[in-house]
Amino acid sequence: MTLPGPVEQPATRSGRALQWRGWACVLSRLSREEPAGSLPLADDGWGSVGRVGSTGPGIDAGARQRLTARFGGQVEAWFDELPEVLALLAERWQFELGSPIPRGSVSAVFWCRMADGRRAVLKASPDRARLAFEAAALQAWHTAHTPVVIALDEQLGGLLIEAIEPGTPLAVSLVCPAAGSVAELLNSLHESGVADPSYPTVGQRVAYLFDSSATLYQRHRELTALISPELYQRGRRLAARLARHDGPVVLLHGDLTPGNILDGGAGRGLVAIDPAPCRGDAAFDAVDLVLWRADDLAAIWSRAERLAAAVGADAGRIFGWCTAFAAMSALELASQGNGPSARVEVLLQLAAQA
Ligand SMILES: Nc1ncnc2c1ncn2[C@@H]1O[C@H](COP(=O)(O)OP(=O)(O)O)[C@@H](O)[C@H]1O
Ligand SMILES: [Mg+2]
Repeated sequence: MTLPGPVEQPATRSGRALQWRGWACVLSRLSREEPAGSLPLADDGWGSVGRVGSTGPGIDAGARQRLTARFGGQVEAWFDELPEVLALLAERWQFELGSPIPRGSVSAVFWCRMADGRRAVLKASPDRARLAFEAAALQAWHTAHTPVVIALDEQLGGLLIEAIEPGTPLAVSLVCPAAGSVAELLNSLHESGVADPSYPTVGQRVAYLFDSSATLYQRHRELTALISPELYQRGRRLAARLARHDGPVVLLHGDLTPGNILDGGAGRGLVAIDPAPCRGDAAFDAVDLVLWRADDLAAIWSRAERLAAAVGADAGRIFGWCTAFAAMSALELASQGNGPSARVEVLLQLAAQA
């Protein structure tokens, strides 16, 4: 469920429309002792990014591209002000800014080092509401399987979190985790969080995801022949039915993709970052991992069974959610690649069961 960028006015993953207001008004109100650009350089392997406060190499071109794809051209004004904001946050929270991390679709992400030597990650995003929402969920979980929130400045759109180490996302290592590790991650999220009614329901999340991913049809019109919009709608209807079940309701991560699961090392196991929290059926959070890089239907069913056994859930429900999202996953995969692939075919076979 990796969302495509919006074509024009985007809705955020938290379901609210992005309301861009420049930072200038905020910056002018906040007093600083040091001028922008006064931060020391990082030179110890976290990478030197040049003087903060300049528009130098610290803000990588990739981040500009990814955020422009997501938010549209209006994000340019945000990038213009970013160096000054980074300097302000570094001064306030006492960290040294390191290299940019070349990922992140709604934020510019940087390695940092705190004054006490702790390593941290800074996310700066024009979608401040989403960042605050993310911080609220991370703070709601009390488990080693999520990073600790160090500081949030919603006004400036900055979130500082504990750095996970080694921190390689599954999507980068391409390591398919053992069912036991996934079960430990899911159980810790679902048991330690509280499904506060202020979070959207999984039904709202489902509607948002299907609306957002459908924009891929506008950008890849040829894909309507491969993944028929009727098949996509069948998946949507099944997902809506599954969302209405009256079983236990847990706080869901909501975006548990292989890009948002990091390797926390042998002692810590898998660590989930970047939530889009919602509340509902625990099986929803399993979809992306169960479908990920599956080469045949048997693999999907066997993963669902093993995971269900490990978390004490119903394999049929996990498989049902996977079936509901199969057409969307096929659409996303096909839109990234060069024509039909064997994995798209597997997803289409599954989608046909919806
Ligand atoms: N706490 C963290 N520790 C280590 N790496 C992190 C951490 N948070 C984010 N990252 C890295 O930054 C990348 C982008 O972060 P993410 O939170 O997914 O950004 P976005 O919300 O923009 O998608 C991740 O894929 C990961 O490589
Ligand atoms: Mg992410």
